[in-house]
Amino acid sequence: MIKVPLKVPNHSYDIYIGQKILGESNYLEKFLGSDAIIILSNTTVASLHLNTLKENLNTERCFEYILPDGESEKNLKQFEAISTFMLQNKLDRRTVLIALGGGVVGDLGGFVAACYQRGIRYIQVPTTLLAQVDSSVGGKTAINHSLGKNMIGAFHQPSLVLSDTSLLETLPEREFISGIAEVIKYGLIKDYLFFEWLEKNIEHIMSRSPEALATVIRKSCENKRDVVSEDEKERGIRAILNLGHTFGHAIEKLTNYGSWLHGEAVAVGICMASRLSRDQGLISDESYSRIESILKKANLPTRAPTECSPDRMIEIMQGDKKSSNKEINLVLLREIGDAFLTRDYSDALLKQILDSGREA
Ligand SMILES: NC(=O)c1ccc[n+]([C@@H]2O[C@H](COP(=O)([O-])OP(=O)(O)OC[C@H]3O[C@@H](n4cnc5c(N)ncnc54)[C@H](O)[C@@H]3O)[C@@H](O)[C@H]2O)c1
Repeated sequence: MIKVPLKVPNHSYDIYIGQKILGESNYLEKFLGSDAIIILSNTTVASLHLNTLKENLNTERCFEYILPDGESEKNLKQFEAISTFMLQNKLDRRTVLIALGGGVVGDLGGFVAACYQRGIRYIQVPTTLLAQVDSSVGGKTAINHSLGKNMIGAFHQPSLVLSDTSLLETLPEREFISGIAEVIKYGLIKDYLFFEWLEKNIEHIMSRSPEALATVIRKSCENKRDVVSEDEKERGIRAILNLGHTFGHAIEKLTNYGSWLHGEAVAVGICMASRLSRDQGLISDESYSRIESILKKANLPTRAPTECSPDRMIEIMQGDKKSSNKEINLVLLREIGDAFLTRDYSDALLKQILDSGREA
C-alpha cells in the first residue's frame, strides 16, 4: 500500500493507493469510529463494488443513497434530494459521507459534504482512473447549473482518499483511456521524468498492469498534491492543472456534453496548447512530436470534431473561469515539464491552430 500525505492550511489527509485495499484493510472502519455513515454511489458502481465496501463497515448506522448513472445527475435537484434524505434520517454533523464512484459521484458527494449543516467529513473512494488521478484529490467539489458546468461549488477537502486499483478492472476501456489524458497532463505541466517514464511504460499502462497503475496514480497524486498544497484555492499556480482544459471544455460544450468524454476533449486541448506553444517558439518541434505521439499511443484523439469552428471555440473560451474581459488566458508549455498561465500569445496563431486542429 502506498500512502501520499496531503497538507493544506488547516487540514491534512492521506491518499492510500493499492490493489484490493478496499476489501482487505480495516482502517476505514478505524477511521469512521461509531459515527453514522452515508454512502453515495450510482447504480453502475454500486452493483459492482458496493458490497466490497460494506463488508468493511461494521457501523450500525450505515445509509446508502444510490443515484442513476450520468453527468446529468450532478445537479441542484439531486443535491436537494440527498440533503432531504439525510435530514429525514436525522444524520447529524458527525456523519461521514463516503463517495464511491467516478468524478460525478465524487464532485456531488463532496459538495453535499461541504454544505450539509455547514460541512461534514467525507471520504473519496474513486472508481475511475480520472477520479483516482485527479478529481478525488484537492478538494474541488461542484454541481452543474443549467447555465454552466461546475458553476456551483466549494473547496472542501476530503478526510481520506482510498484508491483501489482493482476497482479499475471493471472500468470500460473508453473511460479508462479518458483518464490517461489527465495522467499525461501531470508529466507535461511539472514532471519531465514522469513524462519520460510514461513514454517507456505506456503499453503496461494500457494493459492495466497493477504495478504500472499504482505508479501512475501515485505520481499523479504527488504532482497534484504539490500544486494544491501551494495554492489550495487556485489564486495562482493551481491554474496549470488546467492544461488543455480551456480548449477541452469548449469541445465538450460544442458537442453538448454527450459524445465526447472529458479526457478525450482534454487530450485534444493538450495537443492544441502544445502546438500553440511550439508555434509561439516556446517548445521544440521534437517536444511537440513526443506529446502528440504519446497521446496517440494511448488511443486518445488529437483532433477536434469539425463542428468546433474557431469562432465558436473562441466565444466559449472567452467565458472560461480563467478568462477575464474576453481575454483568454491559456496554460502553455515552456518545455515538457514546465507549464505556465499566460495571455502572451498571438490571436492569429490561436485561430490558425483551432482551425488546423480539427478533423478534416
Ligand atoms: N473535482 C475535480 O477536481 C474534478 C477534476 C476533473 C473532473 N471532474 C469532474 O469529474 C466528472 C467526470 O468524472 P469521471 O470521468 O470519473 O466520470 P463518471 O463519474 O461519470 O464515471 C464514468 C462512467 O464510468 C462508470 N464507472 C465508474 N467507476 C466504474 C468502475 N469501477 N467500473 C465500471 N464502471 C464504472 C460510471 O458509472 C460512469 O458511467 C465530471 O463531472 C468532471 O467535471 C472533477
